[in-house]
Amino acid sequence: MKGIILHGGHGTRLRPLTHTGPKQLLPIANKPMSEYCLESIRDAGIDEIAIIIGGVGSNKVREYYGDGKEFGVNITYIKQEEPKGIAHAIRLCKKFVNDEKFLVFLGDNIIQKSIKDFVENFKNSDYDSTVLLCEVDNPSRFGIADVKNGKIIKITEKPKNPISNLAVTGIYLLTPLIFKIIDNLKPSWRNELEITDALDDLLKQNQNVSYERITDYWKDTGTPDDIIHANGEIIKKMEKKFEGKKERDVVLDGKIIVGKNSDIESNVKIIEPVIIGSNCKILENSIIGPNVSIGNDSIISVSSIKNSIIMEKCRINSFTKIKNSIIANNSDIKDEEGDEKIFLLGEGSKISL
Ligand code: DAU
Repeated sequence: MKGIILHGGHGTRLRPLTHTGPKQLLPIANKPMSEYCLESIRDAGIDEIAIIIGGVGSNKVREYYGDGKEFGVNITYIKQEEPKGIAHAIRLCKKFVNDEKFLVFLGDNIIQKSIKDFVENFKNSDYDSTVLLCEVDNPSRFGIADVKNGKIIKITEKPKNPISNLAVTGIYLLTPLIFKIIDNLKPSWRNELEITDALDDLLKQNQNVSYERITDYWKDTGTPDDIIHANGEIIKKMEKKFEGKKERDVVLDGKIIVGKNSDIESNVKIIEPVIIGSNCKILENSIIGPNVSIGNDSIISVSSIKNSIIMEKCRINSFTKIKNSIIANNSDIKDEEGDEKIFLLGEGSKISL
């Protein structure tokens, strides 16, 4: 079987974080979110992977993953000139897939459990597709499946009046039959070729679409809050590890991961789950956590940070308490005396004071 990761799109909902690169490279627990997709595919026994790239900074995807050897896979890059839909992106992979069954993984979907069994079941089946369904609280944001007597009857993209709360997750098991269906698809109301429409057409044609249920953690990281939530869940599942240096009185209890050469000064409090990269300094009474990632080479002093992602090379030296935030590489936050504050913000920045 072959694998495809969708790494294109404009990531508009995550601006300004996506002005300089694709959203799928935004870090969750200090690793690009698409790396979790790649690992899921690889650990399911698939090592031929195509990555669909397009949009701002797509060269960064090639720079990060290279030919895939470092990650134990072979990577082919396929360029999507315009984000014309998930089905459009899949259609670009016809030659790559050839006559094999294949797995498509949306690069912004995070799943914790192995998908190996789902892949094996599909490989050994006669189904033309297997989709993975997961219960959600907000079904109008997803492709939704109508299931009756253990069979999918209909799949609808972002229904206004959802018939169920069973979201079709962004992990699709397919055969080359889908290419013929995509060739006859019409663009949707959002002017995209929808995978949901292709699957619904497949259902209408032969009813040969099965499903499996995801009952563990799955997240479409469409919003900053989704990314921050996924961050905490991933850290909780990681092995506790301490490779840095700390002063004797610092207590590190629970899921706390600290990378090489990072210093934790006296009087710092760290509340799990927290990951701190390498070469960081956490200084002067800072309180970090719960649910915080700090990227490599960052320096944090006197700060209180919770439920947030701080990327690489950030300098935060402020008594302002930070929560529910995502702060990109090379950001600098410091206190300014008096009531007047100073900002240098990129397009689409969001500040709550
Ligand atoms: O996450 C599951 C949901 O993903 C499904 O329930 C929906 O049925 C499916 O349409 C999709 O919905 P989204 O609205 O979340 O899709 P989004 O536009 O965010 O695109 C999903 C991923 O695919 C994202 O990583 C960007 C990438 N992509 C998207 C498009 C439209 C591409 O690489 N090329 C594209 O043309």
